[in-house]
Amino acid sequence: MQCILVTGGCGFIGSNFVRHMLGTDSGISIVNVDALTYAGNPENLADVADDSRYQFHRGDIIDRDFIAETIGACKPDAVVNFAAESHVDRSIHDSGPFVQTNIVGTQVLLDVCRERDVPRYLQVSTDEVYGSLGEDGYFTEETPLAPNSPYAASKASADLLVRSYCETHRFPAVVTRCSNNYGPYQFPEKLIPLFISNARSDKPLPVYGDGTNVRDWIHVLDHCRGIEAALRNGQAGEVYNFGGRCEVTNIDLTRKLLNLLDKPESLIKFVKDRPGHDFRYAIDCSKAERELNWTPQVDFETGLKETIDWYLSHEEWAQRIQSGEYRQWYERQYGERIETS
Ligand code: NAD
Ligand code: DAU
Repeated sequence: MQCILVTGGCGFIGSNFVRHMLGTDSGISIVNVDALTYAGNPENLADVADDSRYQFHRGDIIDRDFIAETIGACKPDAVVNFAAESHVDRSIHDSGPFVQTNIVGTQVLLDVCRERDVPRYLQVSTDEVYGSLGEDGYFTEETPLAPNSPYAASKASADLLVRSYCETHRFPAVVTRCSNNYGPYQFPEKLIPLFISNARSDKPLPVYGDGTNVRDWIHVLDHCRGIEAALRNGQAGEVYNFGGRCEVTNIDLTRKLLNLLDKPESLIKFVKDRPGHDFRYAIDCSKAERELNWTPQVDFETGLKETIDWYLSHEEWAQRIQSGEYRQWYERQYGERIETS
């Protein structure tokens, strides 16, 4: 594999993936297509911007002519689709952009890849398509899709489109579904970077509901290694789950963060719950371990400490983000909740 076209490479996971591939495969070149929405930040890849193996094209995956032109020009050996609206809370306020990018954007990519005979396509999906677990059990690749948020529904729709192209057109696609990622370059609307940022400035940490919801945390580099393994060795038409085998309740995670940051638990503020809040995610990733020879490698305690250190030493990166559109979002999402809870 020589050239990979990545979409959404200026976001959290996409930028980590681009850096991982350029850093581990000297023969690879990457074309990054990103619309630079509020979540896309070219600064995330500033360290590779001058690498002759890396090209950035600003553009929207919904724009069929732009995608056809870009794919026609670089003739990639594979397309990896990270581009998405990714935040559940934003999808509750307005599902429109989620339907456009996550569903229509995926359809455009599938059609153009088919027309241009791109030999490999990987759809980066999420465990949220499976819905919510109770106290027991795990999501396997056979778990029926039961998305609960507009975000999850848009991702499930995209997965079904990919499936249908595999079945109908023998399209060479693989779908990966991963649990909650943490690590450097995550947009500070998500739990871990948001809480690190608030704790650092002694602002309240808004825990939804009673904080007993469970997430299965995986380091972003373990996810990137999984995507690479599925891209190189996954079977067309197959789905692969990735998870960290690391279930933590939100309140335990919040306390752990405060402890590592040496901040008091009095900063915890229980606020109104997220509507339709999924109770528990937990991934059975044994298929990926068996068939892709992949396993999560980063221990959560170590990964979390390194992640905290990264955010503490990249204060300006976060401040630049937080001074823009983000401020309005924060007011809208938390202003009332924090005052009235
Ligand atoms: P992110 O929000 O940090 O980044 C998304 C990127 O996509 C941004 O750079 C944005 O500019 C770009 N983008 C958005 N709309 C676009 C469009 N129409 N055309 C081109 N580019 C567009 O998201 P993330 O957390 O890095 O997630 C990446 C992918 O991984 C998503 O598909 C998400 O559903 C999936 N995923 C995320 C997690 C997680 O924990 N964050 C877990 C599993 C799966
Ligand atoms: O499981 C994979 C998914 O993980 C990805 O598909 C999504 O793109 C990604 O955003 C993430 O979704 P979550 O909704 O699980 O992540 P988030 O960081 O928004 O929330 C994690 C948990 O923390 C969730 O139970 C809600 C809770 N939470 C979140 C925020 C932002 C709070 O209690 N307070 C908050 O302020």
